[in-house]
Amino acid sequence: MKQTLLRGRTLSFLRFPETIDDLSACRYEEDGGVLIVDGKIAATGAFADVRAKAGEGVKIVDHRPNLILPGFVDCHVHMPQMQVIASYGAELLDWLNNYTFPEETKFRDAQHGRRIARLFLDEMLRQGTTTVVAYCSVHKASAEAFFAESHARNMLNVAGKVMMDRNAPEGVLDTPQSGYDDTKALIAEWHRKGRQHYAVTPRFAITSTPEQMEMAEALMREHPDLHMQTHLSENHAEIAFTQELYPWSKDYTDVYDRYGLLGAKSLFGHCIHLSEREADAMSASGSVAVFCPTSNLFLGSGLFDYQRFRKRENPLRIAAATDVGGGTNYSMLRTMDEGYKVIALNGEKLNPLASFWQITRGNAEALSLVDKIGTLEPGTDADITILNSSTTPGMRLRMETIETLAEELFLLQTLGDDRTVAEVYVAGEPLKASLPV
Ligand code: GUN
Ligand code: ZN
Repeated sequence: MKQTLLRGRTLSFLRFPETIDDLSACRYEEDGGVLIVDGKIAATGAFADVRAKAGEGVKIVDHRPNLILPGFVDCHVHMPQMQVIASYGAELLDWLNNYTFPEETKFRDAQHGRRIARLFLDEMLRQGTTTVVAYCSVHKASAEAFFAESHARNMLNVAGKVMMDRNAPEGVLDTPQSGYDDTKALIAEWHRKGRQHYAVTPRFAITSTPEQMEMAEALMREHPDLHMQTHLSENHAEIAFTQELYPWSKDYTDVYDRYGLLGAKSLFGHCIHLSEREADAMSASGSVAVFCPTSNLFLGSGLFDYQRFRKRENPLRIAAATDVGGGTNYSMLRTMDEGYKVIALNGEKLNPLASFWQITRGNAEALSLVDKIGTLEPGTDADITILNSSTTPGMRLRMETIETLAEELFLLQTLGDDRTVAEVYVAGEPLKASLPV
């Protein structure tokens, strides 16, 4: 039995914090402890209480005065776009055609996929992100590379091979049958192997024929516990093209609905231009709208209406994500900084307690995985991120004037980045020292 006891300021969430003063939504200990036994959290609370529960020889790691948080969760990111990020000057469809599809073609080479999968998970961990929901390329080998790398690190990740059989270059196309067969084989090999989860991944309605959409439907029917991920209502030209390709549809959401793809484990990236009818359909099915602020700003796609979705009569489940390489930063701190500004442009605010809820428990709930990740609750996996609020001279100076936890979190979100992550634990193992700088 391996025991480790972390000491520091522990913070996790019980529910969505409605206001900046809503501390009853948080579980915070100024001198807190997290006891890890064999990769799982065995106890959390005041350090003295947790210490009393630990065995004699327990190893104590003192992180004071840093914050001990659940590891961050990124609910939508493209592994093959590490060399697409920072591509100049296009909106969505041109950006896909000019930069993204040519880059993803390189993943025909399995060796390239293995290299990028390794660098991708290194980068995510450096940023304090311990779980991603990832798109791989169309090539089966890219998903194999991702899962092999994830499994070797004992990370809990969700991923899938993209299915796409039209409106893209030959080198990134599959067929309805090969997309189905490759997905089946990947599910058989990787789903629930260790901490791996498979997501059926039709890229979006534009790049799948109706025959392929039916294959995605069949896969979800055959494996109802899988996640499903795709893109929805990101850009006006995308919406118009989708309407042309599926002329019978009421709207974009209706296309996915027709193929049985809405549901509680379905993640829809973007959801910027949804009608009320579409939002109602998302809500009724328990589908998740994924907020990708840096991507939506970078591609000029529009402003995700976080507070409207949350406060409407039929609320939507919401996740947050980087969407690298449309997104411009790997950090969930940087992501929520931009998210705050997007929400501000919609005339609302998101309080910093809610931001940190979103990237931990909120995203775990959106994935229906809160029994495993996203909190510091006993019985869950010990995926933990340690943050230092005084990492840079500018942060140190601002910390001199900060009085409350909420103010500190807002500073972390506004100025924090990978330098702010003092340590990251995956299933109880500290990994920071093993990551490239
Ligand atoms: N829609 C379809 N594919 C993509 C993608 O790779 N990135 C973004 N942002 N939108 C998409
Ligand atoms: Zn995306």
